[in-house]
Amino acid sequence: MASNDMKISIIEKSLDQVSADLLVLPFSSSSLKKEAEDVLVALGFDVQVLKDFKADAGEVVILYGEGKQNKASRIALLGLGEGKTLDDWRKASVSIASKAVEMKLEQVAVDCFGIEALAAQTGQTTATLAAALVEGCSVGSYRFDRLKSGKLDKKKSDGKSKGIAELLLRVDAELSEDVEKGAAEGKIVASCQKMARDLVNLPGNYLQADDISKAAVESGKKHGYDVTVLHKKQIESLGMGGLLAVNQGSFYPPTFTVLDYKPEGKAKLVVALVGKGVTFDSGGISLKPSENMGEMKSDMSGAASVLGTVEAASRLGLPLHVIGFIPATDNMPSGTALKPGDVITTYSGITVEVGNTDAEGRLILADALTYAKEKYKPDVIIDLATLTGACIVALGYPVAGLFSNNDKLADEIFQAGQQSGEKVWRMPLWDVYDEQIKSDVADVNNTGGRGAGSITAAKFLEKFIDSHKNWAHIDIAGPSFLPKAGGKVSGGTGFGVSLLVELLKKWS
Ligand code: BES
Ligand code: MN
Ligand code: ZN
Repeated sequence: MASNDMKISIIEKSLDQVSADLLVLPFSSSSLKKEAEDVLVALGFDVQVLKDFKADAGEVVILYGEGKQNKASRIALLGLGEGKTLDDWRKASVSIASKAVEMKLEQVAVDCFGIEALAAQTGQTTATLAAALVEGCSVGSYRFDRLKSGKLDKKKSDGKSKGIAELLLRVDAELSEDVEKGAAEGKIVASCQKMARDLVNLPGNYLQADDISKAAVESGKKHGYDVTVLHKKQIESLGMGGLLAVNQGSFYPPTFTVLDYKPEGKAKLVVALVGKGVTFDSGGISLKPSENMGEMKSDMSGAASVLGTVEAASRLGLPLHVIGFIPATDNMPSGTALKPGDVITTYSGITVEVGNTDAEGRLILADALTYAKEKYKPDVIIDLATLTGACIVALGYPVAGLFSNNDKLADEIFQAGQQSGEKVWRMPLWDVYDEQIKSDVADVNNTGGRGAGSITAAKFLEKFIDSHKNWAHIDIAGPSFLPKAGGKVSGGTGFGVSLLVELLKKWS
């Protein structure tokens, strides 16, 4: 764990006095012409490099100049594009951190003297830019290597910490307070995001339902919020027929975890966050094709992000009552497994015809939504789930699908997506789609046939929201897990933590 715990220091030294493995000089395409030449000359570097460096967002050029007029052993020119968007600043942060990790550089200093001008240009505060820089550096330096031999036994650490050990931020004395505050906040969000990524990346044989609950209990103890775990017996006596049905074919028992963060003083809102926790989705009897089936270890990404968000809310001390609900199980075929055609009774009393056992997420979410709504009377309910492959077909990997029965809430979530960089796009919940999930024998069918797969899934969930007028469902099937692609870091992203924290901060 400690390997990615980046230390952050604020420094006010002159540029030539900064000593680090890497000194990063960020330039936008416009500041490049004005400033770069002077800076390079002052530090004793050749300016020829500026013929090729265009300051595209995320572009990095490394220069070596030990023994010249600078203390850092290398400098990096980092492109910010036009320097007009937070997204470009984030992209640059991720890029420089990946480069530093590739080069095994542990101490990275970033010259943030231009941060005030950049804040003005992007319409952000310096604190927000500092937070985004720290989050970006954490994202870019993340590697999941704990299952490599030699790392499995955590006590036997090899001492060589991967990732950036120390991030130095060189700032103007006047801004140091703002930057420090932003960086500290960014560090919390980054740490919660990283926890979520780790959980997503852990395969099914390392992470069962019970392990998700244990991770929640551990986080709650450490960060001061209550965690209650309902085990199989209690889930049975409550009658959570959706969760039990999905778990029926499994060797491992299900869990239902409630994470309860209450602020000191009166909470401005009661927010329920529900996360799909399918630790491995084989499809069940409606078995998935074997190609890439291993990626279905990530089918608990919603749960991971809910856990990360509740922890973040607690560590940031937000003035909201935030409650996380995590129904967890794997979805396996066996002699005892749920079968297509079966009719089950959910916790709400609504009966469901199981058209396809691979549409399991909505079954466990149904119970969790009803439970959250009835037991806690939340002002707002948001669920996060890797619910449908159809959502990837519709929006691709970078963007999540958003569904809501409330226009104001939908807009707030959309805006939080724009600000956090975790983008969502709204899709309709029109009644015309109800036709597709009608059942001849039960109240509703869990599959909607061809066409509009992510919408019919959302329509199914909507039945369990019933009269609650402030609900949103976010389908994160695409952005929660990036498939292997040439050289890029693949795997769990922790998508949702940053988005939800942004939203919760808006409500604070
Ligand atoms: N976990 C999957 C959705 C998924 C697919 C997430 C690919 C990430 C990547 C979900 O449980 C599922 O299997 N959905 C089915 C629904 C269908 C049977 C109605 C799907 O998308 O095919
Ligand atoms: Mn499935
Ligand atoms: Zn699934």
